[in-house]
Amino acid sequence: MALQLSLLHHSAVVLVVLFSFLLHHGESAATQGVCATHDLPNPLAERFPNNATGVLNATLAIIPIPLETARRLIPPQYGILERAYRALIPNFPEGMYPIMVQAAHDHDIQLRAYNITTGDFSRVGFEFPFLDLVGDGYSSFRWGPAQLITATNDIALEGSRAYGTIVSLAEFEPRCDAYRRLANGATYFKGSSLTSSEFVELEMARLSHPALNPYPLELFKNITNQPAFANATSCDNMIRLFNTTMSVGEHAPVPVRGRVRARAFPFQGAAEKEWADVYGVQVATPFIENNYLDCRTLRGYSGTGGPGDS
Ligand SMILES: *[C@@H]1O[C@H](CO)[C@@H](O)[C@H](O)[C@H]1NC(C)=O
Ligand SMILES: *[C@@H]1O[C@H](CO)[C@@H](O)[C@H](O)[C@H]1NC(C)=O
Ligand SMILES: *[C@@H]1O[C@H](CO)[C@@H](O)[C@H](O)[C@H]1NC(C)=O
Ligand SMILES: *[C@@H]1O[C@H](CO)[C@@H](O)[C@H](O)[C@H]1NC(C)=O
Ligand SMILES: *[C@@H]1O[C@H](CO)[C@@H](O)[C@H](O)[C@H]1NC(C)=O
Ligand SMILES: *[C@@H]1O[C@H](CO)[C@@H](O)[C@H](O)[C@H]1NC(C)=O
Repeated sequence: MALQLSLLHHSAVVLVVLFSFLLHHGESAATQGVCATHDLPNPLAERFPNNATGVLNATLAIIPIPLETARRLIPPQYGILERAYRALIPNFPEGMYPIMVQAAHDHDIQLRAYNITTGDFSRVGFEFPFLDLVGDGYSSFRWGPAQLITATNDIALEGSRAYGTIVSLAEFEPRCDAYRRLANGATYFKGSSLTSSEFVELEMARLSHPALNPYPLELFKNITNQPAFANATSCDNMIRLFNTTMSVGEHAPVPVRGRVRARAFPFQGAAEKEWADVYGVQVATPFIENNYLDCRTLRGYSGTGGPGDS
């Protein structure tokens, strides 16, 4: 226990998360047992036994919104680095900002050296990339103010709350996978809050011509590797690797198009939102996660440093 803690960062937050983990470990493992997933196993646990590693099988989709709307939704102290996203998507419509919706199944999370595993869970939320958190005019950070998370996974719920995230206990369809296949060939994913009318639903179809995809994979690599924060007390450095066997060949990213319906933070009001013609990718990536870092230490961070990333 002492060893584990010295490896992680000595913050109260980590203590809380680990303590909660130890309390609920048995319960999570039992819950996981009844739910079979199609996700491939974590390929990084062996190579990075002293780090938290796992797999995220996800739909990542871009919702363009007017910059004025973005400015209203994003806390005013965080500048929007328009130049940074225009460098990746020069043809993105004028006056618009790319929100990313991330709908994912977290699988096979491990801290291998200590035999620590966490039950799988699902989560969905709106993420606001390319934000100038540290005020240097170029380091991109990603604001993820709120998430719907599988209600039975206490570690995931507490781990996210510790960032200051607004966490909604939720149930998911499907329960143990990143999405399910509909009769028409499209994929379906829905997270619904158990305590409010919040939900996020995605229905996506494979693009008939990959060339129709307006967003290069580079954009999604870039956004998902930006340090993430919620209330900016600390930052999450999640390193997503796109070139392991999990994301190439038969598992190569699939460009998709579809619609997103939602009633969720930070979109306010009782009315649900619907976005049609949303483009994105479905891809499973392994990750290494360095939690609860001082955001200022990530100034200038523009990459990942981990082998297997490109
Ligand atoms: C991701 O999830 C989908 C839906 O369950 C599954 O078909 C696919 O094989 C998964 N991909 C990987 C690499 O685990
Ligand atoms: C693994 O964790 C250690 C200790 O927190 C950290 O210094 C190192 O950068 C992590 N490795 C990777 C590849 O992120
Ligand atoms: C992300 O894109 C920016 C340009 O907007 C670039 O400076 C940075 O190196 C990229 N980071 C990664 C991890 O690709
Ligand atoms: C991890 O589990 C394996 C098999 O259950 C066991 O042999 C090993 O001693 C455990 N290691 C630690 C550090 O607990
Ligand atoms: C951010 O959230 C954390 C965890 O809930 C909390 O301890 C901290 O006080 C919050 N900070 C601010 C500035 O709201
Ligand atoms: C992934 O790409 C990096 C270079 O960007 C390379 O060093 C590494 O060997 C690649 N890994 C795999 C599994 O292809």
